[in-house]
Amino acid sequence: MSDDFFPVPGDWASSALMDRAARDADYARSIDASHDYWLERAQRLDWITPPTKSDESSFAEADFGIQWFADGVLNVSANCIDRHLAKRGDQVAILWEPDSPDEAPRRYTYAQAHEEVCRFANVLKSVGAKKGDRITIYMPMIPEAAFALLACARIGAVHSVVFGGFSPEALAGRIVDCDSTLVITADEGRRAGKTVPLKANVDAALKHCPGVKHVVVVQATGDAVTMAEGRDLWLHEAAATVEADCPPEPMNAEDPLFILYTSGSTGKPKGVLHTSGGYLLWAALTHELCFDYRPGDIYWCAADIGWVTGHSYIVYGPLANGATTLMYEGVPNWPTPARMWEVVDRHQVQTLFTAPTALRALMKEGDAHVKATRRTSLRLLGTVGEPINPEAWRWYHGVVGEGRCPIIDTWWQTETGGAMIAPMPGATDLKPGSATLPMPGVVPQIVDTEGKVLEGAIEGNLVIARSWPGQMRTVYGDHDRFFQTYFTTYPGKYTTGDGARRDADGYYWITGRVDDVINVSGHRMGTAEVESALVLHESVAEAAVVGFPHDIKGQGIYAYVTLNAGIEPDDDLRQLLVKWVRTEIGPIATPDVIQFAPGLPKTRSGKIMRRILRKIAEGEVSAQALGDTSTLADPSVVDNLVANRHG
Ligand code: WTA
Repeated sequence: MSDDFFPVPGDWASSALMDRAARDADYARSIDASHDYWLERAQRLDWITPPTKSDESSFAEADFGIQWFADGVLNVSANCIDRHLAKRGDQVAILWEPDSPDEAPRRYTYAQAHEEVCRFANVLKSVGAKKGDRITIYMPMIPEAAFALLACARIGAVHSVVFGGFSPEALAGRIVDCDSTLVITADEGRRAGKTVPLKANVDAALKHCPGVKHVVVVQATGDAVTMAEGRDLWLHEAAATVEADCPPEPMNAEDPLFILYTSGSTGKPKGVLHTSGGYLLWAALTHELCFDYRPGDIYWCAADIGWVTGHSYIVYGPLANGATTLMYEGVPNWPTPARMWEVVDRHQVQTLFTAPTALRALMKEGDAHVKATRRTSLRLLGTVGEPINPEAWRWYHGVVGEGRCPIIDTWWQTETGGAMIAPMPGATDLKPGSATLPMPGVVPQIVDTEGKVLEGAIEGNLVIARSWPGQMRTVYGDHDRFFQTYFTTYPGKYTTGDGARRDADGYYWITGRVDDVINVSGHRMGTAEVESALVLHESVAEAAVVGFPHDIKGQGIYAYVTLNAGIEPDDDLRQLLVKWVRTEIGPIATPDVIQFAPGLPKTRSGKIMRRILRKIAEGEVSAQALGDTSTLADPSVVDNLVANRHG
């Protein structure tokens, strides 16, 4: 880790929304006068009934619950669109860059977006959708994906976006878990010149989802797909027959806005639930503070709408702030590794927000692709999703931004709704690899394994000591799991699952997950999910999955697989199992390594010692690195694993 300082550039210090003194005063007030502070901050939203209550949350078992602005009434889609119409109806709200650079971009002004969303909402109503219903969205990165989210918000339906790279099996599980009655999809998606059969995947998934009554299909590629009579309808046909206006549904601040499934250390993915008022405020406020958003800026968050980053920083935060948000259909390195920078030039992007994994992949291709473009419009660069290694940070800063653009490294989680620890460009001196300091109202602490709060420069487990408006409210359908997962390890505090170091300047450095969650190319993956997929295969008796350091992906997936008696391990089977996992979960879960293991290291009570498996996967196989193995039921298992280590 580097301790070099990159001080706030002079022009930023004088022109930013907040300089250091302003930030410090603002933070102090957010803690000391929290009630007044948050009611004031809440005024940035348009309320039908403004709240008089702010934080009424408790992390304690006796009165556990998270609640903000509970007497406020608003509509999220009206906040993201309608209220901008008078002032910036003709400004571009969504600027869409297609997969292929040879195709024309599409632009929707706020006025046009209003009509698109209203018609979409009326189509949803026409098939019976109403406030409180869950609607699953399985879409490519096209403007209609954003309109779908906003259309749900408009009628008070709860959306659950499932990443378009997930398999039919994974999609079905998520549809069933939240009892969706409606699915929104497209005929096909496009990525890097290839098509993704979204509608066909939905058809396959729906064989296991009897509760789904209708599928609204967006025509994206125009290729032929099967439409089930009475169940499926084309958006463009239905939209032409409904009204162009749809009054927004008044929603309580604590009414659910969306569910987003994310991986934990155990069991199946959890439906993280966010509500309307606090979430929107958090997304909008952090978008403004981190990116110093100014009207007229072209802002590009290169995430997918299937992840929380896409929700908060492509759709809700920027649109609530009246921004022009760029949506990109494709991938960073297609058709060439210069594509991202070409998009920056094509649209004169001021702010670019992307993931370290993309930067590492592009960095590997050499600087020439970057230098072939101008990038003079850029003034701010952001990163999210995993720790950024100082080398990638320096490349982003020096080569992409030519030393001109602050790097905004935002640490946060699906559960937190928006950025929690991150710099503000006019206020925060930067250190490569550090997410720096907390956002307003965020109280990070570092605790030891007993939960003792550690002071000063120290490393340990990162917890958050009090609630913030964007905090998740529950695990859909399992409030007890919410409490058990996040508030029992260190009672009275929110457990992040991340480790962190705090340095002498009070800066936070995220060291990565301390649980069985791994981060593959910025995608969060529960090792338990990959294990469950593997053991579903008839040849597999047992599987244990761990992460290992990977140059581009951050972490790779290393699977130890024990086969059923009589099954011969060979390369064909290895490839079959890799394919199997891709079909069960999706390509993002593709194991990088499968090592066949006659036995796994277990304690006498049968618990798999993952610590040992992690070390072997990392290539640390000395007796010293592996530590005490004498408590294992069969210590010789370890010798076999080391001897047959893959790669
Ligand atoms: C990791 C993504 C270091 C972390 C927004 C967290 C990060 C998990 C950073 C959440 C960062 C995210 N530096 N690590 N700037 N941002 N992480 O839910 O381990 O997909 O717990 O949310 O990503 O992943 P999720």
